[in-house]
Amino acid sequence: MSPKTVEKPEYGNWVSKKFIYMPGTIGIVCLGLTFLSAWWAIPAVIFLVIAAYFLYARTLFSPQGGDIQNRIRALVLEHLDWDGNGQVLDIGCGNAALTIALAHKYPRAAVTGIDYWGGNWEYSQAVCEKNAQLEKVGERATFRKVSASKLPFDNESFDAVASNLTFHEVSDSADKRDLVREALRVVKKGGKFAFQDLFLMKPVYGEAQELLETIRSWGIEKVEFIETRQADFIPDALKLPFMVGTLGLIVGKK
Ligand SMILES: C[S@@+](CC[C@H](N)C(=O)[O-])C[C@H]1O[C@@H](n2cnc3c(N)ncnc32)[C@H](O)[C@@H]1O
Repeated sequence: MSPKTVEKPEYGNWVSKKFIYMPGTIGIVCLGLTFLSAWWAIPAVIFLVIAAYFLYARTLFSPQGGDIQNRIRALVLEHLDWDGNGQVLDIGCGNAALTIALAHKYPRAAVTGIDYWGGNWEYSQAVCEKNAQLEKVGERATFRKVSASKLPFDNESFDAVASNLTFHEVSDSADKRDLVREALRVVKKGGKFAFQDLFLMKPVYGEAQELLETIRSWGIEKVEFIETRQADFIPDALKLPFMVGTLGLIVGKK
């Protein structure tokens, strides 16, 4: 097979193309309507700026534009202080980028990725399985379609549990703190965890310090909070609250 035809894994981009096409199309339509009234120039500019911002963000997230998405995801791996012996779960695995990174970092571990594929995302179980094969970790990787709100695993089944940017997406759980608790339920006593989500978004999680206190009250031995935006590689343009600005990591030991 020539190098040109070698298949590569697909991990997708957190900024979906529709965030560019939708405001872009509306902006162009408004621009056309300026023939009727110059006032249409106002919404035209607003929608075109929104489209341009998301195009820029998508580029920054992509491997060609700084690989910020991968580097943010890698913070979960970096802060999961685990020895790699046993089983690790990735909750909301998407196209398995983190699941596969876990398998590479921990060559003795069995990795499981769960997700409720469908809906807003261009991810699927089939792509996860294909990516794991292409990345040569398929024999140690298992993927299942289940919701993060009700994990089909016994208490304390995993030596480590990770999750990246998933809990806020889970629609069948009104209180997203319940998802943190559900994730911790399946961690073994003494096991490690690292979750990254919009933990600084107060309407979703409340005050971060109160969330940590709540987690401690569940009998978790060690838990700490790290602000994602403190990472030196994140451009200011991505630090808006609806992008990376409200991201944080909750990491520790059960
Ligand atoms: C922003 S993506 C993150 C994907 C992946 N963790 C990553 O780092 O690329 C959010 C993920 O949450 C998943 N998701 C949404 N609702 C879910 C649910 N109820 N249970 C599990 N995963 C869910 C989506 O399918 C999607 O893969």
